[in-house]
Amino acid sequence: MAGYIDVHCHLTGEEFDSVGGIEAVLDRAKANGVETVICSGFDLASSLIAKKLSEQYDEVYFCAGFHPSELDKYREGDLEEIRVLCSHEKCVAVGEIGLDYHFDDNPTKETQRELFYRQLKLADEVGLPVVLHSRDAAQETLEFLREHKEWLKKGGLMHCYSYSPEMTADFIALGLSFSFGGPSTFKNGKKTQECVQRIPARLILSETDCPYLTPVPYRGTFPNEPKNVKYVVDHMAELRNENLEELKNTIVQNAKKLFFKLK
Ligand code: NI
Repeated sequence: MAGYIDVHCHLTGEEFDSVGGIEAVLDRAKANGVETVICSGFDLASSLIAKKLSEQYDEVYFCAGFHPSELDKYREGDLEEIRVLCSHEKCVAVGEIGLDYHFDDNPTKETQRELFYRQLKLADEVGLPVVLHSRDAAQETLEFLREHKEWLKKGGLMHCYSYSPEMTADFIALGLSFSFGGPSTFKNGKKTQECVQRIPARLILSETDCPYLTPVPYRGTFPNEPKNVKYVVDHMAELRNENLEELKNTIVQNAKKLFFKLK
């Protein structure tokens, strides 16, 4: 029987103190069949904590990088530290990186593009895939990635994919995979559900993006946890009319292929 995998979560904050701490969170994940979690950094500090968690717990791997909304914290030299983290045996990708034009007070588009450029280049230099965050910037992200396609040799993941079903073809042409989380279980998630149904099995992955975006049937509770990835995958199997065990197995294989350092 294949296990579940949460390919994108954030376990580095204090959100889990109220529910027994990280150890309890990981115990509950295990008890619910979750065998691997990839903890994503979003700045240097969180990337360093994620690395530490990966050294403490066998089932934890991590990504290192700067999220586009967190660039105010970026200091010259931070990317060199991210580069060092990338050589860690449990660092599976550069991430999460990308463009986020959702809030007016986000870092400027210019700043976001500059760091996106440098981190994409870094991923190529260290030979790792990228985990992409893109919000309200579909066309810009697509054009940017097309322009720098040569840096996507190790592939990448559109995490928590939220754009149109039609656009998936454009991202597939760039060699990217897709992961889905809580929003794919929401009643108002029709567009995302259509994506889940359409995407080829070899490109589909599962995540929680916790502590946010808790899936149905626990939607609205905080914090979300890796154990809940099971509700996402069970729902995906239903949407795709696929055997659950087969889908779980496919997702684990997809994850191992993309994040090739996973054991
Ligand atoms: Ni995230």
